Amino acid sequence: MMKIALGSDHGGYQLKENLKEYLKELNVEYIDFGCENEKSVDYPDIGFKVAIEVKSGKCDRGILICGTGIGMSVVANKVKGIRAALCHNEFTARYSREHNDANILVLGGRVIGSGLAKEIVKVWLNTEFSQEERHINRLNKIKQEEDKIYK
Ligand code: RB5
Repeated sequence: MMKIALGSDHGGYQLKENLKEYLKELNVEYIDFGCENEKSVDYPDIGFKVAIEVKSGKCDRGILICGTGIGMSVVANKVKGIRAALCHNEFTARYSREHNDANILVLGGRVIGSGLAKEIVKVWLNTEFSQEERHINRLNKIKQEEDKIYK
């Protein structure tokens, strides 16, 4: 069974709480890395925890939420091996999995409503990487550069 590392800052807190209920409905296991309320926090503090958890393999994939989704995307994509995708619709959610093998989904809590967010999460969780050669080659190119940059 898939295990999700979940995290938000204050801008994504409410959507995170809504998505926790939805993940329970879907019988998807998760670990909540915070935050715990709407009090202002710094998104890097939560974003790195979730990204490192996914990188370690302790969780299979992650979901991060901040106000716009941009801060969390920047943070998560600093971690070697993380492919974080900021998605605002089902189309980008689907292709972030099929083409990019995204291992973290990022959402903007102040950008999309919880109904759309649930649809995005459902598509993202249920879509597999295509395994097509051209996509594998592109991901290998990212990995090669990462290996040079993060020695
Ligand atoms: C917090 O006000 C906001 O800056 C944060 O949630 C996020 O949108 C950053 O990218």
